Amino acid sequence: MSTPRAKPKYYLTTPLYYTNGLPHIGHTYSTIVADVIRRYKRMRGFDVFMTTGADEHGVNVERSAKKAGKSPQEYSTAIAAQWRQLWDELGIPGDEFIRTTDERHHRTVQWLFKRCRENGYIEKGHYTGQYCVHDNAYVVDAGPGDPCPDCGRPTETVTEENYFFKLAEFQQKLLDFYAANPDFIRPESRRNEVLSFVQGGLRNLSITRTTIRWGIPVPGEAPHVFYVWFDALIGYLSAVGGPEFDERGLWPADLHMVGKEIIRFHAVYWPAFLMAADLPLPKQIWAHGWLLFDSEKMSKSRGNVVRPRPIVSVLGIEPLRYYLLREIVFGQDGSFSYDALVSRYNSDLANGLGNLASRTLTMIDRYFGGEIPKPPRYGVLGNEPGSADFASEALTRITTLYDRFSFSLALEGIWELVAWIDKYLTVEKPWTLAEQPENREQLAKVLYTAAEGLRIVTALAHPVLPQSTEKIWRQLGQTTPLSSVQMDLISWGQLKPGTKIGKLEGIFPRVEKSEAIERIEAMEQEQSKAPETVAATPAATPAAAATAPAVSAPAKIGIEDFAKIEMRVGQVKSAERVAGADKLLQLQVDIGDEVRQIVAGLALAYKPEDLVGRKVVVVVNLQPRKLRGVESNGMIVAASSGPDGSPVLAGFLEDVPVGARLK
Ligand code: MSP
Repeated sequence: MSTPRAKPKYYLTTPLYYTNGLPHIGHTYSTIVADVIRRYKRMRGFDVFMTTGADEHGVNVERSAKKAGKSPQEYSTAIAAQWRQLWDELGIPGDEFIRTTDERHHRTVQWLFKRCRENGYIEKGHYTGQYCVHDNAYVVDAGPGDPCPDCGRPTETVTEENYFFKLAEFQQKLLDFYAANPDFIRPESRRNEVLSFVQGGLRNLSITRTTIRWGIPVPGEAPHVFYVWFDALIGYLSAVGGPEFDERGLWPADLHMVGKEIIRFHAVYWPAFLMAADLPLPKQIWAHGWLLFDSEKMSKSRGNVVRPRPIVSVLGIEPLRYYLLREIVFGQDGSFSYDALVSRYNSDLANGLGNLASRTLTMIDRYFGGEIPKPPRYGVLGNEPGSADFASEALTRITTLYDRFSFSLALEGIWELVAWIDKYLTVEKPWTLAEQPENREQLAKVLYTAAEGLRIVTALAHPVLPQSTEKIWRQLGQTTPLSSVQMDLISWGQLKPGTKIGKLEGIFPRVEKSEAIERIEAMEQEQSKAPETVAATPAATPAAAATAPAVSAPAKIGIEDFAKIEMRVGQVKSAERVAGADKLLQLQVDIGDEVRQIVAGLALAYKPEDLVGRKVVVVVNLQPRKLRGVESNGMIVAASSGPDGSPVLAGFLEDVPVGARLK
């Protein structure tokens, strides 16, 4: 048995992400949210453990590997390393990174299967049905060629001898469990959705495959391998001890944080598997909404993904964390926009928290020689506006919001405090008070109140802004790390007069919006040009990783890959600048059989009027993309020259007809 813990444990997980592609900002959102919860729970006295990882088996990974000319194992290992590297780089690594190809995981899956089988919940049967390869799911009630109701891709007909899990036997048990544990599925809308699905009746579930090679073998039953969901879900248990989970004392999980499209697997299949194996069930499944881009779910297959690295290189990770948690109502879908991201950064972080910290601390430095002033009646500020009662009320209100995962409201509440302190300073005018020696006591009171308010705000914002709040905390002269402070123990008046403040440094420099967006988009475009591919060895240190490009030099490609890129001679018909974007030009380009609109980053090197009539090389079969809200349908080929990488258009010395293909 596990040794008793000094603190209650809290075990939470992110989904285990597929290794058939690289992370985009939707995945990053899930991992950031889990990290915020982890940090918050630590500040509430829990011994927190977080698992993330890679879901590596199944047809999708097998196919992507084949395309890349690699074995599934080799391909998936390289991609999993890139996921792990990104989480490290963004400061959101799991305490455990489980790979479904780990030996410890294979053992756990086989063990769980054995337990379910011994308990009589596994049987052999035949299955013919429509299968969606993309979602790794059979589609019930579909006929040959019907589309998958989730992703719209055509389903495939498969007939197999399978092992079945007797899911139907769990209908009532699950309904009873949901009734006894009303908080098991959150939010309420998802709970209702799952309830009606289960009430509608459950069919037995085929949990092995003979048509797939790339999976965990069913012991003694070759060629059966486990169905990806009777594999990946079990990863949450493998990560914390597998069959010996009791030794670590972390299972059952307190929270599985997932996106809404995989709620059924987590809230129906997973508890049924665990019930069948006589194992404890997770305490809660929380399904958040989707990040949308141009009103659609962001996903690789739709070609509308935003990657985290360009944003982080230009603004940093903290503004991204703040934006995602503040702007998106947790549990609902939300649109991602660069404009809103940078606006939030400037208004709430640069002009808000950053400016408040800077003006408060600078005045303490200037008027009190860098020591927290001693206000009159220090410690009995209870009846001052905005102090004791106000602070304790705010602490209770905001921790309640965090407890409910109402992140957006929690941040709104914290920023109301920021606004309050700002206004207090504006009304009290400490810079004027400082002019008259007889106002010294009042000046001390005002600056003490602002600094103490700032200290409380900083602690409350820590789960979302871990690094910058830690900096402000140190500037306030605090020596214990903020991450180890317990929220319940914070109260007004703990800031000790006489404390020497730390070295002052700006936290969130203001950025010029259009320039920041252009830089992000240019990097994004640069990265999207490189195909998602298997990287070489990942950077060994976080510092090296921070500057490493998202994808490394592509492997050599065959002629058939090159043939996929259709390039044609085009002629520019018109060209104009894109409003608010220094580098972008919006071009109309004749490519022979049609005129295409293309947005290209040429404006710093070419005047629009000089381009009209010019023959250019166009990649015509790229997915359309929007740049600064303008649709771009193709790409103009240019060399990147000089240290600033300024573009030089590819062209021809002889005359060539418009529309001619390049080979
Ligand atoms: N491998 C399965 C999960 C198995 S868990 C035992 C899987 N992987 S995934 O790579 O497709 O990741 C899906 C998860 O990534 C979603 O559930 C969600 O957490 C996150 N997101 C992917 N796209 C997203 C958005 N556009 N918006 C928000 N979250 C998104 O499913």
